[in-house]
Amino acid sequence: MPTLKALQQLAQKHGTPLFVVDHDELRRNYAAFKKYLPRVQAYFAVKANPDPAIVKTLYEAGASFDVASMPEFRIVHAYIKDLPAKQRQDWIWDKIIYANPIKANETLQALDQYKALVTYDNVEEIRKIKQYAPHSGLCLRLKVANTGAMVELSSKFGAASGEAVNLILEADRAGLVVEGLSFHVGSQTTNFENYVQAINLAANVFKEARDRGYTKMNLLDIGGGFPAPYDATVKPFRELARKINAEIDRLFPKDIQILAEPGRFMVATAGTAISKIIGKAVRDGKLCYYVDDGVYHTFSGIIFDHCQYHLKAFKKGPTQICTVFGPTCDALDVISMSEELPADLERGDLLYSKNIGAYSVASSTPFNGFPPAKVVHINQ
Ligand SMILES: Cc1ncc(COP(=O)(O)O)c(C=O)c1O
Repeated sequence: MPTLKALQQLAQKHGTPLFVVDHDELRRNYAAFKKYLPRVQAYFAVKANPDPAIVKTLYEAGASFDVASMPEFRIVHAYIKDLPAKQRQDWIWDKIIYANPIKANETLQALDQYKALVTYDNVEEIRKIKQYAPHSGLCLRLKVANTGAMVELSSKFGAASGEAVNLILEADRAGLVVEGLSFHVGSQTTNFENYVQAINLAANVFKEARDRGYTKMNLLDIGGGFPAPYDATVKPFRELARKINAEIDRLFPKDIQILAEPGRFMVATAGTAISKIIGKAVRDGKLCYYVDDGVYHTFSGIIFDHCQYHLKAFKKGPTQICTVFGPTCDALDVISMSEELPADLERGDLLYSKNIGAYSVASSTPFNGFPPAKVVHINQ
């Protein structure tokens, strides 16, 4: 995180609400991922923060990308299409996976010219891909345990292990090529056993597919879920990496390509929000601060991502438990009902919230006419 002094200077220069992206931190996160998971190519999940400047920095660091909509695809494609022809060879699979198992007909039609790698998890999707994007490579998304993840995803996506090989053979019969398997253990997964179980399940599906005559699979995509260090209870990434490396080396030969789709891990610690106190009241005996950013804006992750962010003051002083409200007229717009803040903050004083780079500005809305936080990039 930038120093408090630097944050205050930025707020003074740009006003609030402000969202600061530190590109050195993005590079550090990418380098850590590569260092601890050397066999795994990181496909940054653009949904976590689709700012084109973030995509550019991670692209230059060596990342590939997971996209889940055509607008996300175009953000990444804009960087790749300018490459010299030689470097562009095979760029699409090296650089992009379209990792949304359910795609509209129009999306598939638009993707087909790129011969994209796309995920799927059901028979209906095979029919759609066959009709609208027959040049795609396929990756079967498996349903895996999401136990203990902050955001559960397995109720919406993933083929059950018992139907997996049937879905691979069905795609094969339709004349499509299944390149491999993917899964997602749930976002902000602090239960590392989820990865161990999922990698073992994938290995069993690889083996069953081979036993039943399908030998074309050559990639495993271990998805996202890598936790951001929001607090001290999150065990170090290298511990998780050790478990993942041990399982993939034990179960998957060297010629199987291993991908991952980290979103939060890459961007969470690179974002800091700064907001300003615009009102102050005592309600039912409790001190309430009103700030110019809230759950419809940068703090949207409180609702959509089930993530609690903490606010800190730049000023020091005796503290008490306060409520912090966002600026809109909705009573849902509560950042925290129990934030320990100095009791003597005044209108115009600033608060900051760190580790808020993922699923924050990405899901900000224009509700009530309040503009989103201004985004500034440092160390670009
Ligand atoms: C298919 C897919 N891949 C990757 C991600 C990124 O996950 P995370 O931010 O937990 O790494 C998500 C998040 O929802 C996802 O749905």
